Amino acid sequence: MNITIASQNLTETTADLLAVAVTDDNRDSMLAALDTALSGQLLSTMGSDEFKAKAGASASYATFGAIASGRLVVIGLGNGDASSIQQAAGKAGTLARSHGAKTVALAMGDLDEAQSQLAIEGFIAGTYRFDKYKPEDGRKSHVDTLTLVGTASGSGVTRGQAVGEGQSLARDLVNEPADAIYPETLADVALGLANEHMTVEVWDDHKIEAEGMGGIMGVGRGSVRKPRFIHMKYTPSGTPRKKIALVGKGVTFDAGGYSLKPSSGMLTMRCDMAGSAAVIGAMRAIRDMQPDVEVHGIVGAVENLVSGNAYKLGDILDMYSGKKVEIHNTDAEGRLVLADCLTYASKLDVDTIVDLATLTGAAVVALGDHYVAMFTKDGDLSSDLLSSAAEAGEDMWPMPLPEHYKAQLKAEWGEIKNVGGRAGGCITAALFLSEFVDGPKWAHIDIAGPAFLDKGFRHFAPGGTGSMVPTLARWVTR
Ligand code: BES
Ligand code: MN
Ligand code: ZN
Repeated sequence: MNITIASQNLTETTADLLAVAVTDDNRDSMLAALDTALSGQLLSTMGSDEFKAKAGASASYATFGAIASGRLVVIGLGNGDASSIQQAAGKAGTLARSHGAKTVALAMGDLDEAQSQLAIEGFIAGTYRFDKYKPEDGRKSHVDTLTLVGTASGSGVTRGQAVGEGQSLARDLVNEPADAIYPETLADVALGLANEHMTVEVWDDHKIEAEGMGGIMGVGRGSVRKPRFIHMKYTPSGTPRKKIALVGKGVTFDAGGYSLKPSSGMLTMRCDMAGSAAVIGAMRAIRDMQPDVEVHGIVGAVENLVSGNAYKLGDILDMYSGKKVEIHNTDAEGRLVLADCLTYASKLDVDTIVDLATLTGAAVVALGDHYVAMFTKDGDLSSDLLSSAAEAGEDMWPMPLPEHYKAQLKAEWGEIKNVGGRAGGCITAALFLSEFVDGPKWAHIDIAGPAFLDKGFRHFAPGGTGSMVPTLARWVTR
């Protein structure tokens, strides 16, 4: 998408669609010139329609040649916070898509750097649709040109585009069927992001086995699509101010293994690599934004299926760290994959590790569909992540990591078992992971709820959301 900033009169702006975002307070002044051009009918119609500038509310008007743009939409900017800006710009994107507009002009008043970034992220997210498997005549045209009308920040727009495109990549990876995105093809996507700032190394199943990653091998054994271990590394031009690792769960399909999921619970389990999609999408954005931080992107990619070769209940896996894990449920596979990745990341000499995973249904029970659950023992890391999420317009909530809950993971035969019972399921899952982090500060983010939408939410279409790409991009660059 070609994005420019222009200060011009709204009446003279030429676009297929002109979108003007207003608050209840500024709407009369924002729309004054348009109202005059439309013979005073715009504001009076809005008045009789009782238009309220709620975030993402909209009213659409034909312009009959009275202004230079073909169609006018007025959009509510709500209270102007991060999420409202994204929702308003996102609504412009959604409407552009449904009107088949190729060129869009978006006026949101005066935007500073952070607001400009939010507007572009929102707009890109709003235009996003995954329709490549629809018949060609059912697909809507893509927006190719966006003009931000008013004052906006060029660097904010550039960042917004990097983050928006990283998020769209994450959404594509989640939305693709598991027969298109499996460990090998997921690794190919990561390899495709390599450039002079980013290296990508991929281990195949022979190498993973030889290195002793028994968690990844155990889970991945049941599929003919063999596991891959992916290590991306972004290196800044100067001396890195910090070194960090992002770790993602890449279960490209989770049937549950022998602890088989019911059909209804399995239907959308191609989304079980959303943690890795967030990592890959964030790495793409980071590569483009070039922060002075060294960033490692680590992904364990496997399919969790049933076969004569699959891992079984009661098996004891020999993990990369050396720990022996007793398997009580083959559907608690994500933590086994992540554990080996966390051991690997612990050896990288990084300051901080953040892992992302669609890890537990329990996180959805606890916080609902739209909040990610964040676990860390480090107070500074917790507040950094929470404020990054707030700035990114993403909902995150801190969760406890009580040591005494580890009693629920006590094993009979091995050192630790892979499930801790129903009570506090997302907490015991996080505590399990903590056993494999050795050295760096660490946070775990369970995105099982927000990563995938069964029905549309705000300006997000159903399917993958690219959850946490905007938050990670801000956290890494702050
Ligand atoms: N991938 C699932 C978690 C999940 C559930 C993600 C719903 C997205 C939406 C995970 O591998 C899983 O199956 N977890 C089990 C753990 C249990 C067996 C301890 C769960 O949450 O039921
Ligand atoms: Mn599972
Ligand atoms: Zn899973």
